[in-house]
Amino acid sequence: NFDKPNAAIKLVFRGTFIHSTQKSALDILEDALLGVDTAGKIAFIGNSQELEKLSQTFGFSPSDVTQLTQHEFFMPGLVDTHIHASQYSYAGTALDMPLLQWLTTYTFPVESHFKDLEFAHRVYAQVVKRTLRNGTTTACYFATIHTDASLLLGQIANDFGQRALVGKVCMDSKNSLNYCETTPESQNETRRFIKELLDRKYPLVKPVVTPRFVLSCTKDLLGELGTIAKKTNLHIQSHISENVEEVKLVKQHFPDCKNYADIYHKYNLLTDKTVMAHGCYLSDEELSLFRETGASLSHCPNSNISLCSGVLNVRNVLKHKVKLGLGTDVAGGYSASMLDAMRRALDVSKFLTIQNPEHSTLTFEEVFRLATLGGSEALSLDDQTGNFEVGKDFDALRVNLTVPGGPIDLIQKSEPKIQLEKFMNLGDDRNIVEVFVAGRKVVPFTEPTAYNCTE
Ligand code: GUN
Ligand code: FE
Repeated sequence: NFDKPNAAIKLVFRGTFIHSTQKSALDILEDALLGVDTAGKIAFIGNSQELEKLSQTFGFSPSDVTQLTQHEFFMPGLVDTHIHASQYSYAGTALDMPLLQWLTTYTFPVESHFKDLEFAHRVYAQVVKRTLRNGTTTACYFATIHTDASLLLGQIANDFGQRALVGKVCMDSKNSLNYCETTPESQNETRRFIKELLDRKYPLVKPVVTPRFVLSCTKDLLGELGTIAKKTNLHIQSHISENVEEVKLVKQHFPDCKNYADIYHKYNLLTDKTVMAHGCYLSDEELSLFRETGASLSHCPNSNISLCSGVLNVRNVLKHKVKLGLGTDVAGGYSASMLDAMRRALDVSKFLTIQNPEHSTLTFEEVFRLATLGGSEALSLDDQTGNFEVGKDFDALRVNLTVPGGPIDLIQKSEPKIQLEKFMNLGDDRNIVEVFVAGRKVVPFTEPTAYNCTE
């Protein structure tokens, strides 16, 4: 039973499709047919035996079907729920300090440079291209305090066809580097950023209200950002409970609040469109508040290890039914690849099992779900993306295990579940031969000359 098509079919693929559903972390469809309409949406997914019926119902020719090889499969695009686009220039360095020193020593000085739009252009074009090649079809970005550079990040994501949430960072607490705004500046520039980005009507790019974290915002600013988010019904992103020193200082600054999560809650910043990074030290009570408000967590294992910040017990988060995705947290996390985020998430979970054999280790299937459907749920985008349900946008990676010179030696043909496991553990961007966002092929891309900065 297939509904009549809303739009003409522009792509049909035949082969293996692997995705997560509400019911199952791993749903594997072998020798399946998937059609994408001209609006970029999945029009049908069916069995190849239904080819004739499908081609008649949807009006495509069987000769237009693209056949995957036996070493290929499609999986949903990867969702990076937390990445600092502005920190990409020093990713892979400067990981020798704990969070608060790391921010003032390395991060704030680099972010200050983004008032220079040419510099911003270079870094933002590189990070969008790199994450797309790595298979990140949706990214939830922090930019910097600079409105025009943040708008530029939105423009670049749109030009390359990446689905993106973009945040102009808000911070009005004084720091020794003077990388901050006044309270009215931060409020007014946030309003300008939201208005100008929305006015551009980019189909896949949306603004996010972005208080950096409690320690860089005054109560007045937190209150106003909560009000703005409520009025505009926009997404909210920030950091929470990442590092022991940070949690201690937050308690000192907000003695009236019950706990860290309660501070954001008090200022209307915990909503069903909020994503908070880290959460290593959240109590069960705080996790329950996340669950009640619908707020989600972004698990950033590379960053948590690299800055010696903490360990998130994902099993406990899932037990509390809090929405959860994975994030690279570049440059606290050194890798801009969600494959790395998946591997680190598995490592951290295995480490918890080493410490406590009672701990039930995450499976690769569960981590696959977190990186795809889980991420889209965490960003409240699961009505549009995250798996191959009919009606959703076609955001997908075409994975090929046997690329020349690639990292995977296939000794024998393996079943799809093993192929996925091999790709997750051993694959890299060479294995991601095509990337689609909303039905548009965004990798390989032909580079607009404006973005071709190879120096
Ligand atoms: N907390 C506040 N700002 C930051 C940041 O830029 N990175 C990380 N990892 N944590 C933060
Ligand atoms: Fe971060």
